[in-house]
Amino acid sequence: MATDTLTVIDNRTGRRYELPITHGTIRAMDLRQIKGAADDFGLMSYDPAFLNTASCQSRITYIDGDRGVLEYRGYPIEQLAEHSTYLETAYLLLHGELPTGRQLEAWVDSITHHTMVHENIKRLLEGFRYDAHPMGMLVGTVGALSTFYPDAKQIHDPRAREIQIHRLLAKLPTLAAFLYRHSVGMPYAYPDNDLSYTGNFLNMLFKTTEVKYKPDPTLERALDVLFILHADHEQNCSANAMRAVGSSHVDPYSASAAATAALYGPLHGGANEAVLRMLDQIGAKDHVPAFVQKVKAGEGRLMGFGHRVYKNYDPRATLIKRLADQVFAVTGRNPKLDIALELERIALQDDYFVTRKLYPNVDFYSGLIYQAMRFPVDLFPVLFAIPRTAGWLAQWQEMLLDPEQKIARPRQVYRGPGRRDYVPLERRG
Ligand SMILES: CC(C)(COP(=O)(O)OP(=O)(O)OC[C@H]1O[C@@H](n2cnc3c(N)ncnc32)[C@H](O)[C@@H]1OP(=O)(O)O)[C@@H](O)C(=O)NCCC(=O)NCCS
Repeated sequence: MATDTLTVIDNRTGRRYELPITHGTIRAMDLRQIKGAADDFGLMSYDPAFLNTASCQSRITYIDGDRGVLEYRGYPIEQLAEHSTYLETAYLLLHGELPTGRQLEAWVDSITHHTMVHENIKRLLEGFRYDAHPMGMLVGTVGALSTFYPDAKQIHDPRAREIQIHRLLAKLPTLAAFLYRHSVGMPYAYPDNDLSYTGNFLNMLFKTTEVKYKPDPTLERALDVLFILHADHEQNCSANAMRAVGSSHVDPYSASAAATAALYGPLHGGANEAVLRMLDQIGAKDHVPAFVQKVKAGEGRLMGFGHRVYKNYDPRATLIKRLADQVFAVTGRNPKLDIALELERIALQDDYFVTRKLYPNVDFYSGLIYQAMRFPVDLFPVLFAIPRTAGWLAQWQEMLLDPEQKIARPRQVYRGPGRRDYVPLERRG
């Protein structure tokens, strides 16, 4: 009769162990009892880059990478993108359920009324060079927020946690807009509480001399949908950073700064920026075949393709491709779209990409939309960090409330030199 256990026989000792299987996993700590000798430390699992290790149990986001499925708290991303708003989705991620009408109203009202940042943030931004990368500035300013809110250290107080969550969600667009205005040398535009989350963000970015900024409703909604699609993605590099750093019980601003830093990397949130640079480098549709050949020869990667988890078309990429048409109807077509479409067409027929299951990911088309909406390329990862803050905070809170979690501290397999005596300088080769 089948039992949910794994039988392990240690050929060093001939001993046999029964390890329970729960939710398709064995516990790495159950390996510790397997010892070659009585004074042995016990067996560990070795898994660089966490390719096959679950670091937590989570109830937030579900991905089936083979089938191209993404769900937040059980709701398919396609339905949320069609019917929800970013703030409602953020509520869902953080609270586990969709809000009632009254809950949503109170939630939106609170986020809207926490959008201002301390004036000293402006002076902090002035310390950055004119050409500072926006993500570098975002990492610095998000981290700096912790110094403005000492109550953020009360991470075990649910009310204190709630306030920081509202503040972070509310202030991220303000920080992002301010650092953009710093880069282009424009005066900061303050939040407008009459506007939606994304409408106000566009206001703070692009308002010039008009008394009241009126966001284009198509672009406002497109940005909201892009924010929904980027809100969470389970245990990716930055969520893992948020959990690992947060597990030291540091305040959520500092942990979010760490997550933002993780997102800065070109293999993660920097990928849509890298896609645009790649499309610029390719230059024209006719150059695509030669470029693909170079990628296949190992000279660089096809940015915006491939994913650690999705081995099928990224469902977010499908939605973004559709969104692109709506945005281009307002802004005019981004000429790089033709290069991107050709790249996708050729790659999806090529054995190299097919056998490795490399499909377009979320970043492949999002950059084209952002560029058509007049966002500078350097700002793209910032546009990712804003909505992902909801996911990071949901992951952080879940980690804090999980009685099984402790400070994250992986093991290592030491392969360095054995013990040796210090050699004085005059006796070294
Ligand atoms: C996302 C990514 C980091 C996932 O990496 P991973 O799961 O560690 O996959 P690997 O690096 O092990 O790649 C597996 C194979 O596919 C190849 N590969 C993966 N992504 C590739 C890409 N974008 N272009 C060309 N080849 C790629 C690798 O060279 C490797 O080939 P090999 O088996 O012949 O050595 C990777 O696909 C990538 O670098 N993509 C481009 C960056 C990007 O778009 N990131 C955004 C993710 S949302």
